[in-house]
This record gives sequence, structure tokens and C-alpha cells, in this order.
Amino acid sequence: MYPILHEWGGFLIRWTHVVAAIAWIGASFYFMHLDASLRSIAAIPAGKGGEAWEVHGGGFYQVRKYLVAPDRMPDHLIWHKWQSYSTWLSGFALLCWVYYGQADLYLIDPAVRVITPMTGALVGIGALALGWLIYDRLNRSPLANRPPLLAAAVFLTVVAFAYGFQQVFSGRAAMLHTGALIATWMTGNVFFVIMPNQRKAIAELVAGRVPNPDWGKQAKNRSSHNNYLTLPVLFFMLSGHYPMAWSSPYSWGIVGLVVIAGGVVRHFFNVRNAGGGDRWWTWGVAAACVAVAVAISVASNPAARERIGLTAAAPSPEPGPAPTVSLAAARAPAVDDAVMAVIGTRCAMCHAAEPLWPDLGSAPKGVLLDSPEHVARFAPAIRVQAVLTHAMPPNNVTDMQPEERDELARWLAAR
Ligand code: HEC
Repeated sequence: MYPILHEWGGFLIRWTHVVAAIAWIGASFYFMHLDASLRSIAAIPAGKGGEAWEVHGGGFYQVRKYLVAPDRMPDHLIWHKWQSYSTWLSGFALLCWVYYGQADLYLIDPAVRVITPMTGALVGIGALALGWLIYDRLNRSPLANRPPLLAAAVFLTVVAFAYGFQQVFSGRAAMLHTGALIATWMTGNVFFVIMPNQRKAIAELVAGRVPNPDWGKQAKNRSSHNNYLTLPVLFFMLSGHYPMAWSSPYSWGIVGLVVIAGGVVRHFFNVRNAGGGDRWWTWGVAAACVAVAVAISVASNPAARERIGLTAAAPSPEPGPAPTVSLAAARAPAVDDAVMAVIGTRCAMCHAAEPLWPDLGSAPKGVLLDSPEHVARFAPAIRVQAVLTHAMPPNNVTDMQPEERDELARWLAAR
């Protein structure tokens, strides 16, 4: 029952999350582009807004921006906030579902640190809250008037958290939490700054007073931060599917490089949309950052180094039991020889630290099935992939027999 619930629940929450995120990021890109496209018109005093014409969906749009607000309250006003809130809420639900709900599988790597699922969840959620407090304080400090320094401080905060997460969580969970941290800042910007400032402006307008222009500026600043952070966040959210990105001990360095690469690419588009020309150098910087990130991932992964001929194949030691025993392993019944024989012949050529299967640089999705301890740790995933579904072995490349799946099912049924 539980594996089926986990599998479908996870998929449905992910579906919701991706749809919400598309709506939010789409709106955010649209408004950044719109802001950059505004041209001054006679009806609006200089520096107080502008107008843009757009064509889409069989008609022309005439859009005007009034800074910080028009002279009178319009009768019908559309707010943009639920795209952001629903993205965060569904993302948080997914984080809990996958990483805290299946902590043994995804969150806790005993080789990094042995913690209980509850400790892991508290550390994760606590870090998201602490991260917001730090980011928000930085924005309200004197640094706010010096954008390059503020950017540097925010950048260092991200890298420090990425490093911290790597000391507690599995590599995969560490990078995902870094994404969740930044995404929390982005929704925090909407919830704690942009929306309240807009509400204050409207209250002043209704009272017949002129709203403070600083409110508009603060909101615009935070919304630009969101724009620059979007691409890195998407990288971190997708990274779970690509172990080369998160399995290096220096993944925190990869995080830093990706923040720079994503930020400069947004900069290219922001400047271009504003008619400021094409800053082609940004693409050079982004490409260099990505190249260094790839180099870090390869240099710190012996199997990958060997595969591209940087080091000679070393005789690998016999895989022994891992030094620490995970919670899943402690709960699972002993993995008997019959199970290990099945896994050894049908799975382990791919799911090993140095896979024998051609074209695999590291264990797919970080799933190691090379020792009884590892097999026990991944028991629920094995059930989903090889018993409940026949997703594994992929296309049954290793010719797994029905009786062998029955063997795994018998072992799992004892759990
Ligand atoms: C030919 C190589 C190969 C073999 C053999 C193989 N796998 Fe995999 N496995 C993969 C790849 C590639 C992925 C990543 C799939 C993806 O990205 O969706 C994967 C992913 C997985 C995952 C993680 C799925 C997820 O979404 O988290 C599990 C668990 C797994 N395999 C178990 C097994 C088991 C059990 C066997 C043996 C019965 C097996 N695999 C045999 C290549 C293999």
C-alpha cells in the first residue's frame, strides 16, 4: 500500500508543483520583460512609469505602468501572488513527501551523517527559516544601497548554506535544499515585502494620499532578485535526476558557479529587453562557470576520471559492508544470499560506484546496490522499480526472470 501511495502521491504533488512553478516563473519573466519594454508617454510624467504595446493571441495590448500607483484606485485590479504561494506550498509538500517521508532513501546518507528522519526534517525546515532571516536582514542593512556588495553577501550566504547542507544530508538532498532555500527567499519576497508594500500603497491611495515611492522601489528590487535567482533554482530542483551534479564533495562549489551562470544569463536578457544592447560576454562567463562545474564533478569522481582516461583503472577492493548501518538497514530483514545473487546478476553492473555498464559514469540516481547494506537501504525503491513495476532493469536489458522478481517480492514481503 505505502509504496503505491508514495509513488502516486509524489507524482501528483510534483505535477502540481511544476504547473504552479511554470505559472509563477512565466509571470515573473513576463513582468521583467514588460518593465524593460516600457517607453515614456506624455500622459505619465517622466520617471513615473510608461507604456508598452504588445501583440499576442489575435489582438493588441496597451499596457501602462504607474509608479508607484495611479491617481485613483481602479475598479478592477488583478493581483499576482497565488502563482508564487502555490509554487512554494506544493514545493514544500513535495520536499516533505519525498525527502522527509522517505528520509532513509533520499535524505539521510549514513556515510555523511547518521541522523534520524525527524532530526533531518527539523534541520531542513530550520535552515529554510534561518536562511530567510539572514537574507531579509541583509536586504534591510546599509548594504541594500550598494547592490554589488549585497549581491556578494547573498552569494556567499547561498554557498555557505550549500556547504552546511552537505555536512548533514545526502548529496542529492543537500543540493535540493539549497534550491528550496533560494525558492523560499523568492516566495518570502512576495509574501513579506512585495504584497505588503502594494497593500500599503493601495490604502494610501484610497485615503486620497500619495503612496511613498520607496515602497515601489523595494518591491521592484526584490522582484529583480527573484528574476536573477530563477535559473539557478531550476538547476537545483532538477539536479536530483543527475547524480554527477550533486555527488561531488565539492558540490557547494558547483552551487556557486551555477548561481553565477544563471544570474549572468538573466542579466543578458534583462539588458537586451531594456534596449541596452547585447552583452555577449555574459554567455562566455556562463559557459566558463558550467565548464568549471563539470570539471569539478569529474575531478572529484574516480569512476568518471577513469572513464575518460584521466587515471588508470585501479583494482577495486572487494565491496565490504559500509562502516555505518543505516536506519533502513536496521529495520530491514537481513538480505540473504538468494537476493544478493539476483541483484548481483541483474542490477549491480549498473548500480555500483564504478558501473561496469558502458556509458554510465556513476551509480544511476545514486542508487548503489553493491552490498547487502546498500540493498537493504534501497529496499523500498527496489520494490517500486523491480517488483511493482518493471522499470528496472531498464527495458530488462539484463534479462531478469519472473522467478527472480518473485524472489525479491518474498524478501520485501517480510519487511
Ligand atoms: C543497464 C543499467 C541498469 C540496470 C541493469 C539496472 N538499473 Fe536501475 N537505474 C538505471 C538508470 C539509468 C536509472 C536512472 C533512471 C532515471 O533517471 O529515471 C536507474 C534508476 C534506478 C532506481 C532509482 C529510481 C528513482 O526514480 O529514484 C532504482 C531504485 C533502481 N534503478 C533499481 C534497480 C534494480 C533493483 C535493478 C535490478 C533489478 C536495476 N535498477 C538495474 C540503470 C540500471
